[in-house]
Amino acid sequence: MDRVAPERTFTSPPWYLTRLLATITFMTEGLYRQDPLTPEEREEFEDDLVSFSDRGLDGLGDVSGLEVLYAGGSSLLWVEGLSQRVGEHGSVTALDADEERVEATRENLADADLPAPVRLVAGDVFRPPFGPGSFDLVYSAGLFHELDVSERTAEEALLALASVVRPGGRVATEDFVDTVPAAQLEDEKLDADLALASSGESLIGIGAPGRIVALHEGVLSDVWWRVSRPFRIRHLDKVVLAEPEPADLPGLPPEVAQGWRRRREALRERVGREGYTRPATVYVEGTVAGGRR
Ligand SMILES: C[S@@+](CC[C@H](N)C(=O)[O-])C[C@H]1O[C@@H](n2cnc3c(N)ncnc32)[C@H](O)[C@@H]1O
Repeated sequence: MDRVAPERTFTSPPWYLTRLLATITFMTEGLYRQDPLTPEEREEFEDDLVSFSDRGLDGLGDVSGLEVLYAGGSSLLWVEGLSQRVGEHGSVTALDADEERVEATRENLADADLPAPVRLVAGDVFRPPFGPGSFDLVYSAGLFHELDVSERTAEEALLALASVVRPGGRVATEDFVDTVPAAQLEDEKLDADLALASSGESLIGIGAPGRIVALHEGVLSDVWWRVSRPFRIRHLDKVVLAEPEPADLPGLPPEVAQGWRRRREALRERVGREGYTRPATVYVEGTVAGGRR
């Protein structure tokens, strides 16, 4: 099975979005721009991105022929990997709240190897625009720690996703956990604190595996889970350190902005010393009640 990291252009991400790999590195236009990596480094970096995504997708087991909803994401890395595993007798639908990311992926679909048809939908996992029982499997990778729970709960999101799975179908989610110290944990915390201070968004953030497992046990049957070790992405530190720093922090009182910048600078020093160390992940899977086993 051929896999490539399909979007080839490097553009620095928005400075506050150093988070799950899918969000950070690739845009769509065709030429490298301000790439901090040599071509060899970039190849290793992209190989590792594909391997990271493969580790998650392989955990799903045999998904051939299934109708799959990829919830909370639209990176071609995952979409293509899913399509190749599902094959021509199933389908993949990706649902992402970020319309720009959806459009960026749409522009690259023609270059991807997609045996299963892929549909890209901009929308909210709290209100998935699909009928009950539309899918055999819902999968998410890195969604839950970014959920804004200022007005709704994570349980509501999981219930909404479970409602579009047929009885007896599966919901599987994967996300970072804080069991191993990692520079990325502080980075994610900085993002979450900034989102709260600037727009009132309350992101769940990254916590212990038990929290996300309990969430699934409240909604699904036959829940099982496993924690995987941190996955090293070569040269990610260089990519992160090349991100431009913010010129201003709109909406933040000066003293809050100053504190935030100090923490960010400390993080950059830490990344320089120890690399952009990454969190462990937890995979949790359960069954939607009502089907025949
Ligand atoms: C860390 S990224 C996950 C990246 C993912 N692996 C991918 O393929 O793009 C989190 C994603 O969740 C999406 N997201 C966050 N809240 C959402 C919501 N309420 N509904 C749909 N997508 C959401 C964001 O737009 C972002 O694309």
